[in-house]
Amino acid sequence: MPKDWFEWHDLYNTEPKLQQRLEIVREYITYSLDASPAGRIRVVSVCAGDGRDLLGTLANHPRAQDVYARLVELNPNLVERGKATIESLGLAKQIEFINGDATISANYVGAVPADIVIVCGVFGNLADEAELKRLLDNLSFLSKKGAFVLWTRGHSNGTAYSDTVRKVLQASQFEEVKFKLTATGDMGVGINRYVGENLPAPKEQQLFVFSGVPHKAR
Ligand SMILES: C[S@@+](CC[C@H](N)C(=O)[O-])C[C@H]1O[C@@H](n2cnc3c(N)ncnc32)[C@H](O)[C@@H]1O
Repeated sequence: MPKDWFEWHDLYNTEPKLQQRLEIVREYITYSLDASPAGRIRVVSVCAGDGRDLLGTLANHPRAQDVYARLVELNPNLVERGKATIESLGLAKQIEFINGDATISANYVGAVPADIVIVCGVFGNLADEAELKRLLDNLSFLSKKGAFVLWTRGHSNGTAYSDTVRKVLQASQFEEVKFKLTATGDMGVGINRYVGENLPAPKEQQLFVFSGVPHKAR
């Protein structure tokens, strides 16, 4: 059992569910970059971990030089690792990795509205459906109209939580573009498009509460 979120990332080395999830997330980031019009592509990643989904995609993507991103992550060791990857890719002028609280709207100022919003490994760490709705409502501050929102949601105790997420997204102005389950069958990954208007100022200073713990991560 991982004792913290840095250790949790080691599960990527052994857990097929996480490996398959990462593969799909990278595929969906590629899809979103390919579908973006010419010019600058703004990306934000909420609770970014070490950024392996976005950075691993940019390592081989022809639009990498167009991407201006801010990744927000609380664990300093993950941020350090992410920053080293950014340096190695030669993208330090365009990609910022912030060691900060991703639930606080101020940490996105200057980087939003984004064309691509990555919220992977987040929905399973919210207290309940009401908190998911609140976060989705607050994504109107992070997202341009038409932004791609990429998300993941694990299943547990025989409950297909990704079904609920898909329904709530559709009902909250996020139209489904793509959805896949991992081959393990217990992790959903989706892209939805925000069809509402961007809000230039946040509705709430705190966008959501991240209440998950690493040894029970979903
Ligand atoms: C399940 S992991 C997902 C990491 C990454 N998005 C991925 O899919 O590989 C959740 C991440 O959220 C981070 N986290 C938890 N609370 C946070 C907060 N308030 N602000 C920023 N990051 C936070 C943890 O440190 C951890 O790296």
